[in-house]
Amino acid sequence: MKILVTGGAGFIGANFVYYMLEKHPEDDIVCLDALTYAGNLETLEKALKNSKFKFVRGDIADRATVNELFAAEKFDVVVNFAAESHVDRSILNPEIFLVTNVLGTQVLLDAAKEYGAARYHQVSTDEVYGDLPLDRPDLFFTEETPIHTSSPYSASKAAADLLTLAYYRTYNLPVTISRCSNNYGPYHFPEKLIPLMIANALNDKPLPVYGEGKNVRDWLYVTDHCRAIDLIIRGGKVGEVYNIGGHNEKANIDVVKLILKELGKGEELITYVTDRKGHDMRYAIDPTKIHNELGWLPETSFDTGIKQTVKWYLDNRTWWENIISGEYMDYYKKMYEGR
Ligand code: NAD
Ligand code: TYD
Repeated sequence: MKILVTGGAGFIGANFVYYMLEKHPEDDIVCLDALTYAGNLETLEKALKNSKFKFVRGDIADRATVNELFAAEKFDVVVNFAAESHVDRSILNPEIFLVTNVLGTQVLLDAAKEYGAARYHQVSTDEVYGDLPLDRPDLFFTEETPIHTSSPYSASKAAADLLTLAYYRTYNLPVTISRCSNNYGPYHFPEKLIPLMIANALNDKPLPVYGEGKNVRDWLYVTDHCRAIDLIIRGGKVGEVYNIGGHNEKANIDVVKLILKELGKGEELITYVTDRKGHDMRYAIDPTKIHNELGWLPETSFDTGIKQTVKWYLDNRTWWENIISGEYMDYYKKMYEGR
């Protein structure tokens, strides 16, 4: 099979590239990535040495580039990870989220329809369901939960999901969609909660916890997400949505305290800062469908995963130090200074 992985120089896309090269050495992987602030070719250094892997720099919203690539490569499967992915950035500047996440998805859907692909898979998020209240631990997101978005990021991801389903219904394009909970693991860009807290703690900088730190996220180790997508593109039913999550809900403050403990740092580094606008309270996935239909279950517990992740950041200091010394510094100032 020849598989197009868009956004493969980002966090989950890169983990997916490595997962697939190892699990399916017979497949060819082409990565299309614009290398925005979140994309990093260093992340793909090892993959670039593999003859079954090819990197192409390009924007998914650039129709000419995308069409040329589809015409030349004749992909069997398209997996679209490429996106603007950070909620806080979407609050500062929503427009690029619409261009990449909505129009970019439409360009890819058109190309898959025009040049033919046995499967188009859209990587989506549980954030399209909005949030759940903290006092109803019995409630979970199922695939039937109505779309009810909060941030410009989640609104753009929901729009892309609806377009993807429209291309199935209208043009019979063989699509699938996965909606996963929060991921963590190697190569996670240090603007997101877990890597940001690890990097700040290692630099003895304050750990900025939004609001009271009570918001709950349902954390999944990134390789478990990659394995789920692989199962869906091979065995998932066309036209269907699959939720992915491992019943691992944690309040932000507990995650931050656990990271400090792993690093042997004191809790005095924790600083409560002004809350995020429109901050979603709780995400929690019901993964019954993917478990029953495809036999998927998470394999990495949070205890193991967070230890592995902390170790990875300790062992790969240059990777994240290069990132936080560049454009990131301006972003960090804008987002956190005086907050
Ligand atoms: P990321 O921000 O780390 O990486 C995004 C990648 O997409 C980068 O390599 C970037 O260069 C590339 N990209 C951005 N705009 C592009 C464009 N116009 N054309 C081509 N490439 C472009 O994101 P991530 O955390 O790896 O998330 C990947 C996907 O998974 C996203 O679609 C996101 O919505 C979804 N998702 C993420 C999580 C999570 O916890 N991180 C959870 C569920 C779903
Ligand atoms: P994030 O990693 O941005 O993922 P998402 O908002 O998509 O779930 O944030 C995870 C949680 O951590 C979210 O409730 C916001 C919170 N958070 C902080 O408290 N401080 C921070 O500096 C960041 C980046 C996030």
